[in-house]
Amino acid sequence: MQKRNFIKAVALSAIAVAAGQSLAQDNTFKIGLILPMTGQQATTGRQIEAAAKLYMAQNGDTVAGKKIQLIVKDDTSIPDVTKRLAQELVVNDKVNVLAGFGITPSALATASIATQSKTPQVVMAAATSSITEASPYIVRTSFTLPQASVALADWAPKNGIKKVVTLVSDYGPGIDAEKFFKERMLFNGGTIVDSLRVPLRNPDFAPFLQKVRDLKPDALFVFVPSGAGAAVMKQFLERGMDKAGIKLIGTGDVTDDDQLNDMGEGALGVVTSHHYSTAHPSATNKKFVDAFTKANPGLRPNFMAVGGYDGMRVIYEALRATKGQGGGDALLAAMKGQIFESPRGPMFIDAQTRDVVQNIYLRKVERKDGQLYNIEFDVVKDVKDPGKSR
Ligand code: DHB
Repeated sequence: MQKRNFIKAVALSAIAVAAGQSLAQDNTFKIGLILPMTGQQATTGRQIEAAAKLYMAQNGDTVAGKKIQLIVKDDTSIPDVTKRLAQELVVNDKVNVLAGFGITPSALATASIATQSKTPQVVMAAATSSITEASPYIVRTSFTLPQASVALADWAPKNGIKKVVTLVSDYGPGIDAEKFFKERMLFNGGTIVDSLRVPLRNPDFAPFLQKVRDLKPDALFVFVPSGAGAAVMKQFLERGMDKAGIKLIGTGDVTDDDQLNDMGEGALGVVTSHHYSTAHPSATNKKFVDAFTKANPGLRPNFMAVGGYDGMRVIYEALRATKGQGGGDALLAAMKGQIFESPRGPMFIDAQTRDVVQNIYLRKVERKDGQLYNIEFDVVKDVKDPGKSR
């Protein structure tokens, strides 16, 4: 036990020393981008890496006299691996910023490294409300599940959906989605008939969907992480749930733009709430989508891509504001309060919570120019994470 503590102490002091040294580094500015590039969450990694590279291609790789170096590492979405990679990036590579984090457990596993080494940790994907509270060095450019879920629970009862069954992946973001959707539905006079949770790893939705069919709610509310939506949609349709009069609703993770176009006719009409759609009608987004698809033929940018793209923007602007001279604390201070127009719409990094404040859109799957898109039809402006106000 003592030996282990000693080793831990040595490792921690190595992290602290490395943090000090990075100040005296040469003219490179290193971003350690840790993503799931293989395994179940690989689409998240592919999207974010492509978006980060696009941002660099568009904005150059020199900022405030520093040459930006992007170091991409594959954590296979295993939190222990994320943590080890983060430690190596800080101690050996002396990165100035840690970024990425495809799933909540990976973001949480890294928080202590960010705190110990005073390295800003830019969370570009993971979306459990509490993540930003795990370290004062965490800044988020993705979204939170409470943010997305509450808007849908306000829309549903006004649109004939009173009785709902919830079905979520059984971990942080799913539990947030379930809780905040349910509370707001009850507040609005709706009923939650049952709340079902499926495992994150290798989920089999069949027995859960059978149960939902028997319960016959007006709608099934779903949260599954990016990449799992197509499987839910397929099994929902195969079981004829739509024909049985059960609507599918959820946060936009389920009609993920990365997969939506292959989901087929059955996806038409599905209503979701989210912070980003590839079809968001703004000049800034059109430019982003055109450049992204040109650089990555066959790939549409989804909400993960936009989290990565905006995360790079936050890092670049912090480096520019600190004139390339700042350490972790100065960079962090320059990330707080940033306000800008993202492809998703206006967004800012709340200086107090270090979390993103943004519009949440209600969208419906429609066919446009022969392709399926999440078409926005309503918006709730400047939504703060409801998970923070309690
Ligand atoms: C998380 C992962 C996702 O792929 C997603 O769509 C939302 C949240 C997460 O693990 O936090």
